[in-house]
Amino acid sequence: MSRREEICVPGDEILRQREFMRLVREQSIGEIKKYNIQTFGCQMNENDSERLAGMLSEMGYVETENRDESDLIIYNTCCVRENAELKVYGHLGSLKKLKEKKPDMIIAVCGCMMQQPEVVEHIKSTYRHVDLIFGTHNLHKFPELVYNVLRGETPVVDVMDSAGFVVEGMPIRRSNGIKAWVTIMYGCNNFCSYCIVPYVRGRERSRSMEVIYDEVLSLAREGYSEITLLGQNVNSYGLDLPDKPSFADLLRKLDGIDGIKRIRFMTSHPKDLSDDLIDAMRDLKSVCPHLHLPLQAGSTKVLREMNRKYTKEQYIELAERIKSRIPGIALTTDIIVGFPGETEEDFLDTLDVVEKVRFDMAYTFLYSKRAGTPAARRTDQVPEETKKQRFDRLIELQNRISREINEALKGTVQEILVEGPSKTNASILSGRTSTNKIVNFRGSDDLTGKYVRVKISDVQTWSLEGVII
Ligand code: 5AD
Ligand code: SF4
Repeated sequence: MSRREEICVPGDEILRQREFMRLVREQSIGEIKKYNIQTFGCQMNENDSERLAGMLSEMGYVETENRDESDLIIYNTCCVRENAELKVYGHLGSLKKLKEKKPDMIIAVCGCMMQQPEVVEHIKSTYRHVDLIFGTHNLHKFPELVYNVLRGETPVVDVMDSAGFVVEGMPIRRSNGIKAWVTIMYGCNNFCSYCIVPYVRGRERSRSMEVIYDEVLSLAREGYSEITLLGQNVNSYGLDLPDKPSFADLLRKLDGIDGIKRIRFMTSHPKDLSDDLIDAMRDLKSVCPHLHLPLQAGSTKVLREMNRKYTKEQYIELAERIKSRIPGIALTTDIIVGFPGETEEDFLDTLDVVEKVRFDMAYTFLYSKRAGTPAARRTDQVPEETKKQRFDRLIELQNRISREINEALKGTVQEILVEGPSKTNASILSGRTSTNKIVNFRGSDDLTGKYVRVKISDVQTWSLEGVII
């Protein structure tokens, strides 16, 4: 058997799971069963939740926003930083009373946290009201696991220790009717020394170009005009496929699909970003001029200890090359402050890169110790107080830059994909530019899902305001 055959879940297993979906659906004929999914973490987790929702719909369940009235609650967890884990424990604790009142309610936990054996043990011993625990590698077995819980087998615990699989042919129920997310690869091979993702998501596995193409084609037919391709490191897409297509090849294949006006993607690793990809971004009409390119740290010493495989100078040079070849491109980034051993001088290097590159936006994180990663074993952890002070200084600088970049957009006309009423004010519409900036403006609800031209009249640090022209 080839490695490819080994990692693809065979069609008869998918049929088996479809049979379990039918069995569960038959059990609930005549009653309306409700589910509620709470998702933590990244967009890939959101996409996994859309798969769970797809399976639940096939099993006859309908979605409810109200956790307390649901028959099945799922927590799809994240373990990238400690605070995401603490939130999940808080939620699980608060469900104990509800489960006493509604003993038939099914409480399930899944996702990245469950790939850590000590977490599973902790949940089994502390939160005895949890009925179902499963991990990231066996999401497709969810129908069978629900069936087993309904038969009275509880708790059902099924976590696979595996390098991971590629699953095709399972249902999906998308949460957004305007923008769609398409996972193009799973897992990560990079082992950055602070990061737990490679341990819980397994090795890199790419979906084939053909299935991705077909998925995007059917999204276009359903009326989606914007898609975001997802992977922990999309730049190494295809390396594990038989004819080794590159990520740029995939973009070239997807560009020009009738109806798809915007293609976005995340995340890119600076060490793997090729000139071919930069050219593809510049030349392909549907690929948006926005790149999320995590810096993580500015000091070459810290970058080496993080196992990032680029230097401060290489990152700056790459960012300059991208900006000069794709004028008007927006660059966003991720930055960690307080990695073990980070000195004031190292931190000043981070501020220096931020000043020089001038990111449109940065997601900033306090370093969080993750058990099992090399960085967690270091004895030179940075004191919390120092981390927080550096974090505040970084945010102050980035906010100033974001605002300055936005100020320069005043008076320009931008094409916006309207996403609907703004989250904070229902009488205002909100949408995004091709560079992924949020724009708020007045307009009627029926513009949702359409493209409009808006003249930017005012700017904030995180968003723009405008008038339809
Ligand atoms: N502590 C803080 N931030 C982290 N990230 C990953 N691992 C950690 C950690 N242990 C951040 C990185 C990554 C983003 C998704 O989360 O910046 O790009
Ligand atoms: Fe984590 Fe690094 Fe992989 Fe990103 S590239 S998921 S930071 S190990």
